[in-house]
Amino acid sequence: MPKLIIDNIAVEVPEGTNVLEAARSVGITIPHFCWHPALGKAGACRVCAVKLLDGPVKGLQMSCMLPAQDGMVVSTSDEEAVAMRRSVIEWLMINHPHDCPVCDEGGECQLQDFTIAGGHGLRRYDGRKRTHVNQYLGDQIEHEMNRCIQCYRCVRFYQEYAGGTDFGVTGRAASVYFGRDRDGALESPFSGNLVDICPTGVFTDKTARFRARYWDYDMAPSVCPHCSLGCNTVPMARYRELLKTTARHNDTVNGWFICDRGRFSNAIVNAPDRPRQALVDGSPVTMEQALDTLADRLAGFLELHGPESLAIVGSPRMSLEGNIMAARLRNGLGAGAVCYFTDQLQAARTMQAASLLTTANAASQDDVRRADLVAIMACDLLDEAPMLALAVRQSWRDGARVYVVPFDSAQGPISAQGADSIQKEGFVQETSCRLSGVEATLPFEFKLVTELADIPFNSATRPVIICGTRQTSLNEIQSAICNGVKTAFVLDGPNAFGCALLAQEQGPQSLEELLSNGQIKGIISLEADLPGELPEGVQVLAAADWQNTSAIAKAGIVLPTTAWIEMDGTFVNHEGRAQRFRQVMKPGLPIKGLTPELHPPRVHRHDAPGGDVLPAWRIVTELLGRIGDGQVEGPLTGRWEGLQGLDAEGEGRRLVEAA
Ligand code: FES
Repeated sequence: MPKLIIDNIAVEVPEGTNVLEAARSVGITIPHFCWHPALGKAGACRVCAVKLLDGPVKGLQMSCMLPAQDGMVVSTSDEEAVAMRRSVIEWLMINHPHDCPVCDEGGECQLQDFTIAGGHGLRRYDGRKRTHVNQYLGDQIEHEMNRCIQCYRCVRFYQEYAGGTDFGVTGRAASVYFGRDRDGALESPFSGNLVDICPTGVFTDKTARFRARYWDYDMAPSVCPHCSLGCNTVPMARYRELLKTTARHNDTVNGWFICDRGRFSNAIVNAPDRPRQALVDGSPVTMEQALDTLADRLAGFLELHGPESLAIVGSPRMSLEGNIMAARLRNGLGAGAVCYFTDQLQAARTMQAASLLTTANAASQDDVRRADLVAIMACDLLDEAPMLALAVRQSWRDGARVYVVPFDSAQGPISAQGADSIQKEGFVQETSCRLSGVEATLPFEFKLVTELADIPFNSATRPVIICGTRQTSLNEIQSAICNGVKTAFVLDGPNAFGCALLAQEQGPQSLEELLSNGQIKGIISLEADLPGELPEGVQVLAAADWQNTSAIAKAGIVLPTTAWIEMDGTFVNHEGRAQRFRQVMKPGLPIKGLTPELHPPRVHRHDAPGGDVLPAWRIVTELLGRIGDGQVEGPLTGRWEGLQGLDAEGEGRRLVEAA
């Protein structure tokens, strides 16, 4: 552990840490563009200069390229270092547009920050600026090459970190160009990270261009709801419209990045036609009136059919709080049934997977990134959990061996003969493979094997199995748990694990099973995806949701709920990690500029139009208040009390059993 002094502060850092990181560890920021915690050093920008006053190395040095060593005395504010950094910024700005006030990156641009911090304001160069032609890179990412400072972060991320092959760097010296060989949409499912990683505005989120400045946004720490991994995000909204989503750093979960599905799926929240109005038999009412009517109708229904004929249906895409309250509603009604999954097999597989995981054997994304052997079975990674594919790529880049047990969604595991027909020799460069019946290109080399038993787990020290749960049998899920091997199950839904924990308490029955016995006559659906067809005589008494589902179409009473970014809540991810997300924006119809057809009605009112919505758990609380006579407890009480103080910016809390 080298000990050194930086700006008169004694620092001790692990072997291999560079001086720039050592300074960061004690809160000293040295300007940098090309160095990134996930990408490491490139020595390309030359803006991280410091002066070594004493010790084994002396003089001006690039702090990102210099390993911290015992006895170093470093000054970041030495005149020579400051002058060097100021000169580098001035050189970079020679060819950079001086257009911060109108640049769409303004306010979230590292170059702008360090230019202002370094005091560069007057342009002394009076020659012509070098200019480039931009490319069309698809509908999601805008290209503006004139802002490039040649830090190489983009190409290092795209090619090395994410394994993309359709984007690169061409040219030489002062005329390098970062782009594709021709116009066209970027192919990598992680391409959106260019927006976060570019320290200037070469790559910006096209879907949010010129809609807001950084300081205009409503922002809060959040969790991605688009698969079961629980990647950490910062959604950014303005005027009740979710404009963009960026990655939030969490070393244990997603590291520094997110996938494009998580980044560019904002439109669903802003949809003008999403449920925003409470309805009773199709007629608009207030939320209060809808809840009063539901309480009355419930009383009548229970008297007529008996409590055992009512099913409360929660969902793996609803927050933990909503699902906890679904169980309380069942208890409050005296009987009835509560279920968290519509499909019987999905319920059984998810519960089986969740019950097998412990603190010792549950693999996080970070465990996958650090594994030295990875086995992937029964899972289409790029579809079901894209960031796990990115995690596997990092372990593969560090030398991990990767094995894939191919799977055909129609036929189950591919037979030995079928696997042979697509077997390539050893570890192959081309990584196309039939997974879940589709052709997928994975960003790492792997070896196909016909079964888990063919994989030499004993030869590895940090092996990990990744196992899908969409098509696997219960035996296969059981087989994914091996002694000394960590396992990452890929589940269906951001809170599938939380639902499995609740189903262990409340009963494993799915809606499919409840309906099959013919007892159920009425359903209250809480953000659940009901089957398209229900048995005759089964009515959806009420459906609470923020998405247009078949339940909303069938329900006698529609109760609009808040989307996850419009409330505080908790998701439990695939490894049993409870993570808190915070309210980003207030609910209501988005104000989309002055366009009359997109603007909400201009009527004087106190509440936002479309804002009479509640989180699903609050809807249940309000309903319980109407049908019972006592004080209704909030969701995070009893067994869940420990989650009350969960820090949204922390690493979350594991809810799996200790080993
Ligand atoms: Fe050190 Fe770029 S950050 S040279």
